[in-house]
Amino acid sequence: MSEKTFIIAIDGPAASGKGTISRRLAKELKFHHLDTGLTYRGVAKMLLDQNLPLDDVTLAEQAARELDLGTMDGNILSAHDIGNAASKVAVIPSVRKILVDAQRAFSAKTPGSVLDGRDIGTVVCPNADVKIYVTAKAETRAERRFKEAQSKGGTQSYDEVLTDIKARDERDSGRKDSPMRQADDAHLLDTSKMDIETAFTAAKALINAALNTK
Ligand code: DC
Repeated sequence: MSEKTFIIAIDGPAASGKGTISRRLAKELKFHHLDTGLTYRGVAKMLLDQNLPLDDVTLAEQAARELDLGTMDGNILSAHDIGNAASKVAVIPSVRKILVDAQRAFSAKTPGSVLDGRDIGTVVCPNADVKIYVTAKAETRAERRFKEAQSKGGTQSYDEVLTDIKARDERDSGRKDSPMRQADDAHLLDTSKMDIETAFTAAKALINAALNTK
């Protein structure tokens, strides 16, 4: 008897709220959760740690093959510099292929999984049971990131955070391979005017509707 799986694909730009929503959904549903951004961050960190260039295809591929999804540490990998570096290694198609294969294998876990990233609904899991594209205005996202960084003693100004967010959006949505975009069949959740509680409730309603029709 083949076991059923239920795949939830959550995409969107940095600081849209997709990470918190995905974590909470997985916890409530007792599903597996993969923050696919961590896979690109993990590869970037391996290169940074060894002072290797981020655009060397062979070295980046090797790091991608060595990455162990089970040992990625979200706290360490959340560093700002690693995020920017991740966005750079993420433009290399052969690195994406290696990581996407690992992400797809993860998505097959039972009873279900939540994957969040930039290309889950479009490339990694095009047949996901439900897809949500979580977004918010760049200014709103920059404000969230700025406040979060300040509470941790960060020194970047709001303007610097905004410039960074816009540069990252452009790199992630402008790349040739698997650009960040809303899948045609994804629900759009704009959290610009929502707090995280409201955004989570809205996402949960979309998931419940999909679970009930499965
Ligand atoms: O979500 P994040 O900030 O942790 O992602 C870091 C970078 O990784 C992001 O700027 C682009 C890349 N990424 C990607 O290309 N595809 C994904 N599915 C997830 C992240």
